[in-house]
Amino acid sequence: MMALGRASAVLVLFLVALLPPPQCAQDPGMVHYIYQRFQVLEQGLEKCTQAMRAYIQDFQEFSKNITTMLGRCQTYTSEYKSAVTNLALRVERAQREIDYLEYLREADMCVESEDKTLAEKFIQEEEEEKKIRTLLNA
Ligand SMILES: *[C@@H]1O[C@H](CO)[C@@H](O)[C@H](O)[C@H]1NC(C)=O
Repeated sequence: MMALGRASAVLVLFLVALLPPPQCAQDPGMVHYIYQRFQVLEQGLEKCTQAMRAYIQDFQEFSKNITTMLGRCQTYTSEYKSAVTNLALRVERAQREIDYLEYLREADMCVESEDKTLAEKFIQEEEEEKKIRTLLNA
């Protein structure tokens, strides 16, 4: 507003410098014309000032909106981060469970194959015993 006041003062000085010499200025028609020009200029300046005020207000509101949105964005970002961390933890836990199940299955298979070899050994021993018996009987 200060700048606008100074600008209008400069404008007035500029127009005064452009004013026709006194004998012309005393012509009522000319005085009326100059007065009207001044009024038009003043109205234009007033409109400009109002528009500037509106722009400033708009900009302040916009700035406030942006600040609010940034705050919301930060909240979303931290929520998103914690969701990702949570998910990563769950994946890790699931992976560990899968590893454990796999370990159990492998252990089970080991026991099974051990059982199998034991059974095979038993059968082999039986057969050898039978062979020995038949040899002895013969
Ligand atoms: C600021 O936000 C309000 C409410 O969301 C909206 O109505 C207004 O148009 C916004 N203003 C600007 C300048 O962005």
